[in-house]
Amino acid sequence: MRKNSKLGAEKASPRKVVRLRNNAKTIVLGVTGSIAAYKSAELASLLVKQGHQVFVVMTEDAAEFITPLTLQTLSKNPVMTSFFDEKENWRPGHIELADRASLLLIAPATAHIIAELAHGLAHHPLAAIALATRAPILLAPAMNGKMWLHPATVENVEKLKSRGVEFIGPEEGMLACGYEGIGRLWKVEDIAFRAEFLLARPENLIA
Ligand SMILES: Cc1cc2nc3c(=O)[nH]c(=O)nc-3n(C[C@H](O)[C@H](O)[C@H](O)COP(=O)(O)O)c2cc1C
Repeated sequence: MRKNSKLGAEKASPRKVVRLRNNAKTIVLGVTGSIAAYKSAELASLLVKQGHQVFVVMTEDAAEFITPLTLQTLSKNPVMTSFFDEKENWRPGHIELADRASLLLIAPATAHIIAELAHGLAHHPLAAIALATRAPILLAPAMNGKMWLHPATVENVEKLKSRGVEFIGPEEGMLACGYEGIGRLWKVEDIAFRAEFLLARPENLIA
């Protein structure tokens, strides 16, 4: 007879059980239509491993690069792609997520979402959440270097920074568009680390 069958069962299990810590937070992970969108899968996975509740909100274009099913599986939560996914609740799901979020992290963030956020547009759930939440916002841009350095993007980034939005990256390197230079998504491990830092900050509210 086995002395400790419980231990035996744990040994046999190939899965590592991830337990939510007491200080588990809700992170809304926004994913937009960049070639770097595939890296959001690893990022979602890291944030879950860090013990957080992760809710992915994708733009329509992001779904051309990575499937909601992948992100739903890795985040262990439903993925929001449209306002009209929200038919089960009287309370709009995007407002619920905006209120619940301890952090809104958009990675990768396209030039387009940066422009939308700078101008306060709310044409899809991710942009609406960015307007409605009072949680800190962290953007990890990824784009062609000329797009990043264009005065329109520079102005939009400055505008967002002046409102307390934080940025990580982009970094320099070989870009998918064939150019070498600034524009690559920052390393996902570092993005997850910065997210953790912002969540731990005592004054994690912006005006
Ligand atoms: C193959 C491909 C790769 C792209 N990569 C980027 C990118 O890295 N960054 C970016 O800002 N736009 C990129 N775009 C353009 C965006 O997909 C486009 O601006 C889109 O409207 C962004 O929409 P969204 O911000 O709502 O997701 C790419 C387009 C294609 C077809």
